[in-house]
Amino acid sequence: MIRAKDSVEKLAPYVAPLEGRRGMLRLDFNENTLGPSPKVVEAIRAIPPEEYAIYPEYDPLHEAAARHFGVAREALGLFNGADAAIRAIFDAFGEEGQVFLTTAPTFGYYAPCALQQAMQIVAVPYEDDLAFPLEGLRRELEKRPRILFICNPNNPTGTLVSAETILELADANPETLVVVDEIYATFTGVTVLPAALERENLLVLRSLSKHTGLAALRLGFALGAPGLVDRLGRVTGPYDINAFAVRAALAAFEDTAHVDRYVEAVREAKAFTVEALRARGVRHFADGGNYLLVWPPGDLVEIVDGLRARGILVRSMTGKPLIDGSFRLTIGTRAQMERFFEAFDALIAR
Ligand SMILES: Cc1ncc(COP(=O)(O)O)c(C=O)c1O
Repeated sequence: MIRAKDSVEKLAPYVAPLEGRRGMLRLDFNENTLGPSPKVVEAIRAIPPEEYAIYPEYDPLHEAAARHFGVAREALGLFNGADAAIRAIFDAFGEEGQVFLTTAPTFGYYAPCALQQAMQIVAVPYEDDLAFPLEGLRRELEKRPRILFICNPNNPTGTLVSAETILELADANPETLVVVDEIYATFTGVTVLPAALERENLLVLRSLSKHTGLAALRLGFALGAPGLVDRLGRVTGPYDINAFAVRAALAAFEDTAHVDRYVEAVREAKAFTVEALRARGVRHFADGGNYLLVWPPGDLVEIVDGLRARGILVRSMTGKPLIDGSFRLTIGTRAQMERFFEAFDALIAR
């Protein structure tokens, strides 16, 4: 066999447990648990088959997305999910031997992208109480890493840091490209936009996978100074976003009220969930995002498997530093969380 480049030979594939999830209550991937706006469904159904034979047009979506985020067109790039934007960032800015600085634990796709470029990874752990490790990051930033990723709120811990703190870090370190992964920001309202657009070293990631309910269609965005966005465009394929995603996104931007209602329902259900965990004396950590961490009493594997046997999926965090023994619980609607507690109560009472 022909060997791949060294960095790829050393890489383990990034696999997510995606199979066999249909028909279950999916509280494992932080997706929208109800689905997209009916207007999105209508728009997809209305695509005439001859359109399948034509490469998509991107101008209308580019303009609608820029309007949606309140930015100039040149300040926004379209990607096949935020994941493709993450890849493009490392493709465009990451070089062998340079340092990629991040936090731990955090979203699992940053590291493989950095390793693919043979970068060196420095991951500063969250504090013991899962607070943002500001001092640790400041110390590492003194060594002028090439790229810093801040996931805000962080997945999986939920840790939320203020926009001011991130802007301060970016301003104090102009030689580091600071990327703020804000794909859950709709649930928190905390964002470095629009201030990020005035910086030459700050990129922001957004996605329609979570709150908008379009995870399967794959659409993400990178926002920042036009020069940075331009460099990402240079390493991205010309037809990476398919026509279904284009139509779906246009319709979704026309019905933001649908998303607003969902986000509100999740906020309410999260408050209910936190209160229910508190009442049961179950350790949990709930900062930002449509998810939280739960340390169930008893054996984690038994509880996660028991939930699955009752038709409910959650994401085990077993073996992860700082959050070992917990599972990540996506927040859906109040009724869905009530269903979760029915199963959870039966399991922890055993
Ligand atoms: C923090 C974070 N960033 C990026 C992604 C990927 O998003 P997308 O579906 O837009 O590729 C995820 C998905 O779980 C995520 O949790």
